Amino acid sequence: MSNDEVRQHTDWDALVQAAAPHLATLLDTQREPSTRPVTSDDEAFFTGSRQPDRTPETGEPLPGLLTELLETVLERGYCNGAHPQYFGYFHPRPLPVAVLGDAVASLLNQSPAAWRMGAGATSMEIETLAWVADFIGYRPSTGAASPQGIFTSGGSVANLSALKVARDHVLGPDAQERGGSALTTGVVYASSESHYSIPRALDILGMGRRSMRTIPSDATGRIVVDRLREQMARDVRDGLRPVAVVGLAGATATGAVDPLAQLADIAAEHGAWFHVDGAAAAVFADLPETRASFDGLAAADSVTLDPHKWMFLSYGLGCLLLRDPGHLSTSFADGAHYWNHDARDDFVFMGPEGARPWKSLGLWLAFRQLGRRGYADLLSRNLATARHLAERVRATGGLELLADPVVPVCCFRVVPDGAGDSDTLTAAVHRTLTQSGDFHVTVCRPDGTAYLRVAVNNYTTGEEHVDALVEAAVRARSALME
Ligand SMILES: Cc1ncc(COP(=O)(O)O)c(C=O)c1O
Repeated sequence: MSNDEVRQHTDWDALVQAAAPHLATLLDTQREPSTRPVTSDDEAFFTGSRQPDRTPETGEPLPGLLTELLETVLERGYCNGAHPQYFGYFHPRPLPVAVLGDAVASLLNQSPAAWRMGAGATSMEIETLAWVADFIGYRPSTGAASPQGIFTSGGSVANLSALKVARDHVLGPDAQERGGSALTTGVVYASSESHYSIPRALDILGMGRRSMRTIPSDATGRIVVDRLREQMARDVRDGLRPVAVVGLAGATATGAVDPLAQLADIAAEHGAWFHVDGAAAAVFADLPETRASFDGLAAADSVTLDPHKWMFLSYGLGCLLLRDPGHLSTSFADGAHYWNHDARDDFVFMGPEGARPWKSLGLWLAFRQLGRRGYADLLSRNLATARHLAERVRATGGLELLADPVVPVCCFRVVPDGAGDSDTLTAAVHRTLTQSGDFHVTVCRPDGTAYLRVAVNNYTTGEEHVDALVEAAVRARSALME
């Protein structure tokens, strides 16, 4: 390639020019999300994706590529998570400053992986971690080192990191150095509603999936504490070693919060690590309306929290906080002759990831722009909307609420008149709602029974949107029962 061609392919002015005609379309995806269906998908698109073309041999001009990519994503395969009637998986509508943060971070290409890879980024990331911990009322133990944890790509990696720290702390250096037989006695406790990343982490950590003791949950999704006590006593009698108790602060399906204070006591009695998986909802831990449900979170050894859920960041930002973050260095410290360690904060030696994007910049901006109060207001609005939905469901014949929402997740099922199968009817209503293109809700089966699961994870979703959902569900029910 000639120097001229290199310049042509890396010309920033050409990039700005090519992007300009598409900026309005791009911004409208967030400014006016309701003008598009909640989800779009097409079977031919899926089939085609299984036979990708060869790598393009020659380059193409940028304007045509932008047109094609927007058509592919927005017209053919788009999950419109910004739509106020998207109630599906945790898919927040990103805050404008979150998007700005990603753009700036990518352009400046600073990595908070190590001080020398981005001193400004690292120092701001340390500050951001402290703000997250403070926001949820999770204080470091006296004299604990800073930074208070690590940012990760998401909750799964945060949970994996937490269980690695727990394994190394409880089973000792042999676990890290020898693996294998040093791991065979370790067991970890989590409820039947816990996230799939927990058994997967045990698999990755060499402890094996069977080292997870799955403790039953009650009908609302909270762990049954007596069953936990029984299982732990049995395991200890059998010579096993409780490595960690995992409590849920916001079950993925139902939003349930485990009795964390009791779990903290039980873990302490057995010398086990107490990890709280609050990927979904730990962010509600210190709000006046929800604080009581999270009692005991402050006693956790570690907490997972995903800013890319209820902190309204774009995907790619999870977080693990520790009461004593020194454990991270014990578990993840490494060295290499090509790495010049200078005793400053090197996040590469505090977690499993190496070079990372500076995803936390958007969160730093959001904390500064909204302040604690602004964030709390957005969360309270989501909570009020979910509670309004619960009231509507309770007052509507043919719909049955699973439980009062603790965080903004509300589950309900559709029941027929007289005898009949509510699972089949709920599934059919779900299909009707989804096919309409107006709503996206998911189905969960916390006690084996099908429920519609509605997550209010969008700061523009209001009562009118959940009212529309209830009305559509009622219409679908009537039509299906005719
Ligand atoms: C409770 C809980 N833990 C962990 C995760 C995993 O998070 P991520 O998808 O960011 O890896 C989720 C995701 O929904 C979750 O709800």
